[in-house]
Amino acid sequence: MKSGDFALKGKWHQEFFKNDNPIVLELGCGKGEYAVGLARRYPEKNFLGVDIKGARMFIGAKQAIDENLNNVGFLRTRIEFIHAFFAENEIDEIWLTFSDPQPNKPKKRLSYKRYIDMYRAFLKPGGIVHLKTDSDLLYESTLEEIAENGYQIIQDTNDLYGTLVHDLDQETREILEIRTHYESLFSAKGYKIKYIKFTI
Ligand SMILES: C[S@@+](CC[C@H](N)C(=O)[O-])C[C@H]1O[C@@H](n2cnc3c(N)ncnc32)[C@H](O)[C@@H]1O
Repeated sequence: MKSGDFALKGKWHQEFFKNDNPIVLELGCGKGEYAVGLARRYPEKNFLGVDIKGARMFIGAKQAIDENLNNVGFLRTRIEFIHAFFAENEIDEIWLTFSDPQPNKPKKRLSYKRYIDMYRAFLKPGGIVHLKTDSDLLYESTLEEIAENGYQIIQDTNDLYGTLVHDLDQETREILEIRTHYESLFSAKGYKIKYIKFTI
């Protein structure tokens, strides 16, 4: 462990979750609808919501406590520092849920190469990244990043509920139908929801 690394780096299984189950991150989790929703559904996996805004995460954390979910936690940090929190191969999957599209700052998009390279340092080989967004800009720019850097697309749609969701098995459909706070806001305004599942 390097100086500046978080005490649980490399020890989330043993010291936080106290099991060897896979760990899934929701980055920019807000209230943590995916972290909590997936934790309910998959007791044999662990989930961590990550966000800089504590008041939002508090809502998901309280739900988890109220429901006695012991496979979900929350981490308050800037994602720029995420490398200090997780060790090589510690994470199995990442969800990016309605991340800010950062119109004028492409390098700050959570699917930009600089971030993906950070995720690769702790994501297991073949580990999956899910991106769900209302933003055409974030969707298109992520597809460009994928093509430029040779990541592999597993699923991709620019209209999740209009097309892809009907073709999926029930389990996958129910997962993708988990609606986050921002998803509900943007769906109500008529924005199409986009989804990309890819490996890096
Ligand atoms: C548009 S909101 C989406 C929240 C939630 N995933 C949802 O769908 O309702 C983006 C979230 O990402 C968080 N966020 C953005 N940039 C971040 C960063 N660099 N580090 C940590 N959190 C960040 C914000 O605090 C905010 O909660």
